Parts: sequence; structure tokens; C-alpha cells
Amino acid sequence: MTRQDPPIFITLGNRKGGVGKTTSVINLASSLVRHGKKILIIDTDPQSNCSSILLNNTKDQTKYSLIDALEATEGEGLLSGIVCSTYHPRIKIIPNTARCMLWERKVAQQSDAVMGISRLISKDPALNHYDFVFFDTPPNLGVMMNNALMASDYVIIPIPPSDQFSLDGLAAYLDLIGAMRKHNQKLQLLAVLITKYDPEWGNSLNNVGLINKYFSKKGVGIFNTCIRNCPEIDIAHVARKTIFESAPDSNGAADYSALSNELLEIFSVIYGKQFV
Ligand SMILES: Nc1ncnc2c1ncn2[C@@H]1O[C@H](COP(=O)(O)OP(=O)(O)OP(=O)(O)O)[C@@H](O)[C@H]1O
Ligand SMILES: [Mg+2]
Repeated sequence: MTRQDPPIFITLGNRKGGVGKTTSVINLASSLVRHGKKILIIDTDPQSNCSSILLNNTKDQTKYSLIDALEATEGEGLLSGIVCSTYHPRIKIIPNTARCMLWERKVAQQSDAVMGISRLISKDPALNHYDFVFFDTPPNLGVMMNNALMASDYVIIPIPPSDQFSLDGLAAYLDLIGAMRKHNQKLQLLAVLITKYDPEWGNSLNNVGLINKYFSKKGVGIFNTCIRNCPEIDIAHVARKTIFESAPDSNGAADYSALSNELLEIFSVIYGKQFV
């Protein structure tokens, strides 16, 4: 991949909360860095968990916000102008704040509100500096989720098989992806990521089978890599670290490392060139 290639834009999304979207963005990014990739995370979640975990300087969260770029009506390079450092030299982040909720409410009735981020990206060639751009998304189907999908090439849906409610909300999320594809034809549902997998929990295997059946009918696969239940992930978040820094020997570090390998192999096949 050369620097001139545009980045691959990936949304981690599910309308349900607590399924591992933020955890997966942070740790997948951190693992891809170990392959020499340059990563930008765009935090579209007003909860801004990614921002508070990764920002090098927490004050940046109030100084630079995705909403500032979205509210600025004119101008090029607005997104690259608010890229902030994380404590990883190769991971940058565009932070978000709770102010995002007010913005979402304000623009909810505007028909082009879902285009905000994709417009900013199209006017920002400096973003070609990155190999991958990840969108961390909120647990709803609101304006921010729509914006992330409008700007993405791929969606990954994290699903914990033990969470019945995250399974119940899938149809509505898939409908939204379908609706967004009418406007953003490059958008594809890349795969489902099984998270918090616990083989000790009786229904785990059964539910993974059901998820597999449900998605294979739609021509969508499940990553071979499952992210196992890993208590060290909570501890890493408390320490505001990635799993690789906090518990490099844990299942979580092994699984996110395997996931990044699998993802790069998938892209090598899709794009017909070496990503690994
Ligand atoms: N593999 C895992 N094993 C154990 N705990 C996990 C795992 N992945 C995530 N968690 C924990 O589950 C909780 C929810 O994870 P996370 O915040 O990543 O979900 P989310 O989908 O981003 O939630 P939200 O929609 O609220 O933003 C967190 O406390 C996190 O530490
Ligand atoms: Mg989150």
C-alpha cells in the first residue's frame, strides 16, 4: 500500500451498547500498528470512551472536537486540522465530546446531516496519510451512526453471543446498512466479530451457530477469530491502556493480534495486494 492510496474506512457498529465496539477499535488499532500501519480513529460516540482512553492530553478533548469540524460550514482540511495525538505515535484520534448530543438534536431534521463526515473526508486529502480510519460509533441508529456508515467502506458488527438483546437489534441495524448503501454504494458488511466469547456459558456455541446461520443466508461471514471473554480488558480500560500494554499475555491480546492478522489477510485478497 502506498501513501497515496486513500485509507480504508471501517465502522465498528451495532445498535446495542456494551458489545465491544470501543474495545475492538482501540485494540484492533493497536494491533495493526504492530504491522506498521498508520491509524486514525474518528470518535463518533458522544460517550467518547475512545477519546478518553487514548488521548495523550485529555485537555484536547475539549479543545478539538469532531463537532467543531461538522459545524464549520466552509473550509478544506478541517478534519486533519483537529487530529490529536494518542500515546501511540502511529494512532491518531479525532475526539468527541458530550456536545455531540446537542448537535445531533439540532441537525436531526436536516436531510443532509448524515453527509457531514463524508463531505469533510472528501475535502481532506491529508487523510490519505493513514492506512486505516476506524469509526467508533454510539449504541443507536442516530445521526452519528448514519454519518459513520455514509463515510465507510466496510462495517464490522461486534456481537457477544451471550447478549440476547444485541441479537434482537440486528435486523434494524442491517436495515440501516441497506438504506445507507443506496447512498454509499461502496459500503459493505465485512464480517461479524464474536466478542466476549465464553465457552463455559451454556448457550455460547449454540448462539454462535445461530448467528452464523443468520448471516450466511445474507452472504456475510463471521471472523474466524473470536474475542474471548477477558477480564483483563476491563482492567486495561481502567488504566487507560490497550490490552497489549496492560496485559500482553492475556487472551484478549492474543485474540486482537489474531484478528488484525485475519483482517490484513482479508484485505490482501480483496485488494489483490499484500497488506500483511
Ligand atoms: N472480550 C471482552 N471480555 C471481557 N470484557 C469485555 C470484552 N470486551 C469488552 N469488554 C467490556 O465490556 C464493556 C463494554 O465494552 P465496550 O465499551 O467496548 O462496548 P461498546 O459496544 O463500545 O459500548 P457502548 O455502546 O456503550 O459504547 C466494557 O466494560 C469492556 O471493558
Ligand atoms: Mg463504545
